[in-house]
Amino acid sequence: MRILQVSAEIFPLLKTGGLADIAGALPQALAGAGCEVRAVLPGLPAIRQALLESVVVGQFPTPWGETVGVRLGQLAGVPGGAGLLSAYVLEAPALYDRPGNPYEDAQRRPYADNHRRFAALGWAAAHLAHGLDRAWTPQLVHCHDWHAALAPACLKHWSGAAAAAVPSLYTVHNLAYQGVFDASVFGELGLPPAAFAVDGLEFHGQVSFMKAGLYYADHLSTVSPSYAREIQTPEQGCGLDGLLRARRDHLSGILNAVDEAVWNPATDALISHRYLPERMAGKALCKAALQRHIGLAEQVDAPLFALVGRITGQKGLPLVLAGADEIVAQGGQLLVLGSGEAELEQALQQQSQRHPGRVAVHLGYDEALAHRIFAGSDVTLVPSLFEPCGLTQMYGLKYGSLPLVRGVGGLADTVIDADLATLADHSATGFVFGPFTDAAYQHALRRAFALYRKPAAWARVRQTGMRQPLGWAPAALAYRALYQRLVGP
Ligand code: ADP
Ligand code: GLC
Repeated sequence: MRILQVSAEIFPLLKTGGLADIAGALPQALAGAGCEVRAVLPGLPAIRQALLESVVVGQFPTPWGETVGVRLGQLAGVPGGAGLLSAYVLEAPALYDRPGNPYEDAQRRPYADNHRRFAALGWAAAHLAHGLDRAWTPQLVHCHDWHAALAPACLKHWSGAAAAAVPSLYTVHNLAYQGVFDASVFGELGLPPAAFAVDGLEFHGQVSFMKAGLYYADHLSTVSPSYAREIQTPEQGCGLDGLLRARRDHLSGILNAVDEAVWNPATDALISHRYLPERMAGKALCKAALQRHIGLAEQVDAPLFALVGRITGQKGLPLVLAGADEIVAQGGQLLVLGSGEAELEQALQQQSQRHPGRVAVHLGYDEALAHRIFAGSDVTLVPSLFEPCGLTQMYGLKYGSLPLVRGVGGLADTVIDADLATLADHSATGFVFGPFTDAAYQHALRRAFALYRKPAAWARVRQTGMRQPLGWAPAALAYRALYQRLVGP
């Protein structure tokens, strides 16, 4: 089956979060399940520079009168099956020739022409589905997040001669980021006036890319079974729960997985010492190296709690800030790696100044340090307000850093709380708390400390976590089954 994957990011070339990890791992996983995947990506500098042996296969006019070239090549560093991933990259320097974050400028302001930048991506997918590259036409278009979400609308409204219907799957990685624009941009999207309606991409008088995907895609998926249920409720539906309930028969939850070629303490070249579940000595050395590197007291018996993630309300930073004193009071250490909202960043820095050697904060994005943190920490904190899937708790499991998570979305689907029963039957893998309150979070912290003081029990939970099957094979089979249903016999 020929699948065209549409996304704005792809690991290791361009990443702001988990979306990139998934877009980078899925093509090879799907190749293992017998699919042939090609990607279409915006021509952002990091992506253009990595495109090898490329040729121009065609071009198309945008609705606002620009010409976008489409180049086909192989993406350096991204496996796509037997070799590198074949990718179509859009050539439109006026839209994409901007370094750094793909969505916002250096002052963290969204680019004013984002609707054009990602409408071009949607139209590119539709053109490829209708023969722009005569040598390869996908049987299905798989779009990821709002940046790719105009594609299903473009496909549905395609009006070329002999237009064969190419089905689309739209995967929501995070319903909170919707790509909403002023109604005045609608005229630039190239869609018929009827599309600006409740039965279309209109959302409270504005244009919503997210809604275009949710309304027009033949099938919807999201990245965990729990989140698939949660987004159908007013609490977590971000205003779109009605539409999601209406489409619930066309909505699947497929749990993300871990790319074990990248995230594996037995082979990871980014960490100082490698280790296996049955040979854990390297982990203690990783912890000491991390403490030294990051300016924490080099104390082997101080449980090290770490959070790697975007510094936003979603990730539960208010709980982490309020709980820092509790960690320090109990003799533990706290390390945060991330970047995001200025106010939260400042508050984190204040905590680290109050507790030198006990609380460390590294602001910024550092892929190698993230690996060293999972390897060197004892507990991976993911106390999210909501979490579509979450990858860091799974990296924590793989690296023997017990996840401490709030029981929502994919966190609830991947971590088994250590209670008397699960400790007794050896199924426990971490700590799960319920209400988004300081009290519930700090109670979970205290439970982690209590278990840490029982080294044998701690080691057993860690072993169970490290041995969890988290690879891509089951998800790849689930996606393939979905594709097959949509493509038909
Ligand atoms: P989200 O996609 O909501 O940001 P995920 O847990 O799904 O959350 O994925 C986050 C990904 O980004 C993980 O691979 C994590 O290690 C990585 N990451 C987040 N922040 C940073 C950072 N500051 N430095 C390095 N890696 C980071
Ligand atoms: C989103 C979600 C995160 C998920 C990731 C990959 O960014 O916030 O929970 O793991 O996408 O699907």
